[in-house]
Amino acid sequence: MNVVLFGATGMVGQGVLRECLQDPSVERVLAIGRSAAGQRHDKLRELVVRDFADFSSIERDLSGYDACFFCLGITSAGMSEADYRRVTYDIAMAAARALVKLNPGMTFIFVSGAGADSSEKGRVMWARVKGQTENALLALPFKGVYVFRPAAIQPLHGIRSKTAWINAAYAVVGPLYPVFKALFPKYVTTTEMVGPR
Ligand SMILES: NC(=O)c1ccc[n+]([C@@H]2O[C@H](COP(=O)([O-])OP(=O)(O)OC[C@H]3O[C@@H](n4cnc5c(N)ncnc54)[C@H](OP(=O)(O)O)[C@@H]3O)[C@@H](O)[C@H]2O)c1
Repeated sequence: MNVVLFGATGMVGQGVLRECLQDPSVERVLAIGRSAAGQRHDKLRELVVRDFADFSSIERDLSGYDACFFCLGITSAGMSEADYRRVTYDIAMAAARALVKLNPGMTFIFVSGAGADSSEKGRVMWARVKGQTENALLALPFKGVYVFRPAAIQPLHGIRSKTAWINAAYAVVGPLYPVFKALFPKYVTTTEMVGPR
């Protein structure tokens, strides 16, 4: 299986990258980001791009893939709806449209969030925008589209978020994970569980 990965420098993306590189069924990983994750591995190729609104200039690099893990994303805290939408919806759709055209047999996995609003009409801005993005992706003619709606993700193996306050929060609540996991098993996962298996 050949995999395209967006967001490999982030917490979820680092988890996906680790699992893909360890998985014998994954032959190649193309990590696309605005900076390199900086890892060296025979299976890994990193592509640093500047324009996340239009992937036409790198189309030649995007064919021959079976799956895409779209882990690029931001927290909505302090953001306007337009700015949050530009990253969450616009980048995901630009990437997905480019990929589906070149790889109609692809499975696309979108990392959303627990509480995303499929009605697109709720009061919570981030949930509405994630819901709009999920719905638009599900309408594209991929072989399959899967939406992953995590709540809490425990970072393992030294993986860290790009967002400082999230790292601080995990440092505080980290020791309580076994308790959360026992009480709310559906709402707690780990960066080991986000890969291809
Ligand atoms: N972590 C959690 O517990 C959790 C829980 C529920 C849902 N999620 C969802 O999972 C997704 C990933 O979260 P995360 O925790 O991995 O976030 P993160 O650690 O902050 O990483 C974000 C990733 O997105 C990239 N990115 C952000 N804005 C970008 C932009 N404008 N252009 C290009 N790349 C951009 C970052 O690249 P740079 O390195 O270049 O900044 C990084 O690779 C998000 O959609 C989030 O809502 C996360």
